[in-house]
Amino acid sequence: MLNPPQRYSLAQIVLHWATFVLIIAVYATILIREEIPKGEPLRDALRDWHRQLALLAFALVWLRLALRAMLPSPVIQPPPPHWQRRAARAAHIALYAFLIVMPLLGLLMTNAAGRTVTVFGFALPHLIGESKTVADVLKEAHEIIGNAGYALIGLHAAAALYHHWVRRDTTLRHMLARGAGG
Ligand code: HEM
Ligand code: HEM
Repeated sequence: MLNPPQRYSLAQIVLHWATFVLIIAVYATILIREEIPKGEPLRDALRDWHRQLALLAFALVWLRLALRAMLPSPVIQPPPPHWQRRAARAAHIALYAFLIVMPLLGLLMTNAAGRTVTVFGFALPHLIGESKTVADVLKEAHEIIGNAGYALIGLHAAAALYHHWVRRDTTLRHMLARGAGG
């Protein structure tokens, strides 16, 4: 058996932080959009960027899952208590699910509202037909899970910092490129 690596592969690290930046931009675009009066071109542009950046994160999550399945993961040293390992596993599953479910809900609710999603000028096919009832339900789910995302990501980031500064274990260094963070 090979020893586990000290950190994730560079590709996984780059994908993790690229996703982080994308998700910040996905939230920022939709929050700023709410401040722009209806009819302003910037309002529509922000919604388009919200969709495109989220779909980019959606594309990257499959690459992350493939790399995770193929490569060994680092092991936290010193090992945290069992309940923390279980909580981290549950949180990571929830984060992956979030990165898959949110873009799908966004895509489906937009189709249900009778609108076409374009990604960098390329029109995506409609996955479902137009229905106001379905659009309303999907929009509600997109909003609720989107708001839950703040808590999930906040807890995840707080846990990473707790491991680094309080427990002083290797967790955060798993996600930092060689040389950074000691
Ligand atoms: C990780 C992916 C995503 C996240 C975290 C996210 C998050 C959010 C949040 C927080 C809102 C504001 C909800 C509210 O208060 O009403 C929102 C609205 C919206 N999202 Fe997303 N979203 C994602 C993906 C997508 C995708 C892929 C699409 C379309 C293809 C999309 C389309 C929209 C639209 C059109 C709205 C505005 C809804 C309205 O008020 O009419 N979203 N999103
Ligand atoms: C949009 C925001 C974020 C998302 C969606 C996200 C998602 C994820 C996911 C899915 C994993 C699991 C990797 C795996 O083992 O397959 C992970 C690991 C990790 N994340 Fe994040 N993350 C985000 C933000 C952050 C932030 C802000 C920090 C630091 C403050 C952070 C620190 C870490 C660390 C240290 C790990 C490795 C944990 C370990 O090796 O046990 N993440 N992240």
